[in-house]
Amino acid sequence: MALRTNPAKPGLAAAVSSRLSIKAEQFTESVIREMTRLALQYNAINLSQGFPDFPAPDEVKRAAQEAIAADINQYAITWGAKGLRDAIVEKFLRVQGLAFDSEREITVVCGATEGMISSMMAIVNPGDEVIVFEPFYENYGPDAILSGATPRFVKLHPPDWTFDPDELAAAFSPATKAIILNTPNNPTGKVFTRAELEVIRDLCVKWDAFSISDEIYEHMLYDGGEHISIVTLDGMRDRAITISALSKTYSVTGWRVGWVIAAPEITAAIRKVHDFLTVGAAAPLQAAGAVALRMPQSYYETLARDYAARRDRMLGILEGSGFRCFKPKGAYYIMTDISAFGFADDMSFAKYLVKEIGIAAVPGSSFYRNPADGRTHLRFAFCKKETTFQAAAERLAKLRGADLK
Ligand SMILES: Cc1ncc(COP(=O)(O)O)c(C=O)c1O
Repeated sequence: MALRTNPAKPGLAAAVSSRLSIKAEQFTESVIREMTRLALQYNAINLSQGFPDFPAPDEVKRAAQEAIAADINQYAITWGAKGLRDAIVEKFLRVQGLAFDSEREITVVCGATEGMISSMMAIVNPGDEVIVFEPFYENYGPDAILSGATPRFVKLHPPDWTFDPDELAAAFSPATKAIILNTPNNPTGKVFTRAELEVIRDLCVKWDAFSISDEIYEHMLYDGGEHISIVTLDGMRDRAITISALSKTYSVTGWRVGWVIAAPEITAAIRKVHDFLTVGAAAPLQAAGAVALRMPQSYYETLARDYAARRDRMLGILEGSGFRCFKPKGAYYIMTDISAFGFADDMSFAKYLVKEIGIAAVPGSSFYRNPADGRTHLRFAFCKKETTFQAAAERLAKLRGADLK
C-alpha cells in the first residue's frame, strides 16, 4: 500500500479534478498482492503474501463439505450463525479467560479485513484521529482513509520493535478515537508484552479511546511467548474491539471468515455496517468454522511448534544468504535488513529478487507511511512447506557471490 497524499489533508486539487472517489485516489493497490502477481509472472517462489501452501486440517475441510451437502447454503444470520458465535465465545473464554455474550457481542464478518474496516466505520467520525503503530499491516492505511479517520503513526523501533511510551503519549489527544494494535505483529513478529499493553490501556482510559486489536496471529507464538488480548486488562472490557479470523490459524485464508468481539453498544454499530457492506460470511464455511474453533488444545500446540520449526528453517536460509534478520517472536514473517546487498532501495532489490533470483518478498516501504523509512527492509513469509523452503534455499544461494551491481 502507498498513500498518495497526506490523508490528514486530502489535496483540494485532487478533489476538483478527479472523476473518481477522492478517497480511492489516495492509496495505491496492495503492494503485497502485486508481488503475488509478479511471482506468478516470473514463476517465482511466493514468499510475499501470507498464505500457507500446505493443506488445511482434514476435519475442518470435511465439516465444510458436510455443511454444503446438508444444504447450509442460504444466508446465515447477518451477524453470524449462532453455532459459530457460540464457538467463538467458548474459545475466547478458554484461551483468554473472559466471557462474552454471543447474542450481543459477536459479529461474524468476511475475514479480519472486513472486521477492521467495519469496526472503523462503526466508530469513526470526521476529524477523528486513529493511532497506528508503524511499520503496519498495509490495509490499515486505506482503512483509515476509507473510514474518514486521520492516522497518527507511532514508530516501533528495531531491533526489538518497542515503542517509546513518551512518543505514544504525545500521539494521544482529545481527537484520538482509537488505537490500532496488531499482536502478534505483521510485519515485525513482535508480540506486545503485558507491560506495553498496560501503557496503551492507561492512555486509552485517560483519553477515552477505543483499541482495535487485530489478533489474527494469536496462535503463532515462539520461544514461550504469550498472547495477551488487551480486552482482558482492567478498564478495557467496554472499549476494546477484538478481531480475529479462521484464515491463519486453520490455514484457510481463502474462506473469508472472521469475527469481531466488542461490547454490545459497539457491536450494534459494527453489525449495521457489516450488514450493509457484505450481508454475511459464507454460511457453510461458518458451520465449518464452529468445528475448527472446537479443535483440541493439542491442535494449537502442534501449530505453534510446526511454525517455530518453519521460522528457524527460514532464518537459516536467509542468514545463510546474507540477510540480517529480526527474529520474530510471533506471526509468520521475517523482517530483514538488506543494507548489505547495496541496492538503492527495497523496491529495486525486491524486483531483482523476483525477476533474477525467482523469489518474491514484500518491500519494507509498503509498511511505512513514508516509503524511505522502509527502504532497508524486506519481509519474507514462512508459512510454507519443506519443499518450498528447499527450492527457496537453492535460489537464494545464488545471492552469495553474485555480482549485484
Ligand atoms: C495483520 C493482518 N490482519 C489481517 C489479515 C487478513 O486477514 P483475513 O484474511 O482474515 O481477512 C492479515 C493477512 O495477511 C494480516 O496480516
